[in-house]
Amino acid sequence: MTEQTFVGVKSARGWTVGLFAAMAVAACYTGADSTFDGTPGGGSAGAGGVAGGAGAGGGGGSSDCLPTAVQQLLDAQCVSCHGNTLVGGAPFPTRNLADLQAPDPSAPGATVAEGSLARILSDTMPPGGGLSGAQKTAYQQWIAAGAQGVACGGAGGAGGGGGDPYGTPTTCTSSSNWSGSNGSRMRPGESCNKCHNFGISGTVYPTAHEPNDCNGVSTTMQVVVTDANGNTVLTLNTNSAGNFRSNSAIPAGGHVKVVANGSERAMAATPSSGDCNLCHTEQGAQSAPGRIMAP
Ligand code: HEC
Ligand code: HEC
Ligand code: HEC
Repeated sequence: MTEQTFVGVKSARGWTVGLFAAMAVAACYTGADSTFDGTPGGGSAGAGGVAGGAGAGGGGGSSDCLPTAVQQLLDAQCVSCHGNTLVGGAPFPTRNLADLQAPDPSAPGATVAEGSLARILSDTMPPGGGLSGAQKTAYQQWIAAGAQGVACGGAGGAGGGGGDPYGTPTTCTSSSNWSGSNGSRMRPGESCNKCHNFGISGTVYPTAHEPNDCNGVSTTMQVVVTDANGNTVLTLNTNSAGNFRSNSAIPAGGHVKVVANGSERAMAATPSSGDCNLCHTEQGAQSAPGRIMAP
């Protein structure tokens, strides 16, 4: 069994940490609509990465942004469900300052920001918990200080990163497709158990929306399965089509995550099936946000 050495279990997601120097300024997307490609306030849109989508520009001094630590917390832990698309019954988005200042529908007189504090501290959001102490503290301090907006990035023009990592167009990143022959590299993206009876199977892709039979990640990544106590029970490597499979099943109450280069992307819920591509289709089925995406 491999020893887990990753720090900050669910926070170490590549698309929020360390990819873009622009994360040093408050990431600001205050647009009323749900696209994160530019913002009022004077900044020009920054070039985003593939996973992050187009980032918002620095806002030239308006106070419509969240402190960086709070924005990063939302990006890493909340918007996969409370994002442009509301997943699994999440009641409202928590993408930015404006979202957090909206009234909380289930707590009269409170804002979403205040309602979220209780759920964060009680480890019930994200479902099952998983925030680091530092993340909780940063959020708590922001609320205690009045939950105010902060200036957006000063000079403007910075940007990139942040945003909803699933807000990207459909593309076949590898530009290569299944050859047509049967075997471990076959039919990437399709539900394997339509024809097989694997315990766990699926495909990891570089971006959120990729068509069936398009080959997935070309570098080897790990799909790690943990049991209800968080112990690793299985580590599967993706092959050159991005496919992975095993005859073992996910243990009751277990969890799955994708790990690569010290970053990871974890599914919060316990999958109800090991046939990952059943839900992780091109656009996502059964509330899944899209493909299983590389961290
Ligand atoms: C895996 C998906 C998921 C993630 C990630 C997630 N939520 Fe939720 N959230 C939900 C769902 C589903 C509900 C509705 C069911 C419930 O209240 O438990 C919900 C409800 C809430 C509520 C209560 C709404 C109400 O009016 O009662 C708050 C507040 C909340 N989420 C905040 C957050 C915050 C803040 C984060 C990040 C720290 C977060 N959530 C992460 C799925 C998610
Ligand atoms: C439309 C049906 C179909 C789908 C979907 C499908 N396969 Fe297959 N697979 C086959 C057939 C047919 C064979 C050849 C059977 C044989 O050689 O006995 C095969 C053979 C295999 C083999 C070699 C034999 C074995 O069972 O070990 C592997 C590995 C495999 N598939 C993996 C996958 C993976 C991974 C997926 C999903 C990404 C997948 N297949 C999706 C039909 C399918
Ligand atoms: C029944 C549908 C379903 C199945 C099957 C399923 N997932 Fe998910 N997956 C979801 C949903 C819904 C979400 C978003 C909420 C969450 O994280 O629980 C998700 C989220 C994820 C995420 C995190 C995405 C992000 O960026 O936050 C990963 C990684 C993931 N799944 C991997 C897997 C793997 C690996 C398997 C197969 C072992 C699998 N999933 C099977 C529905 C499914």
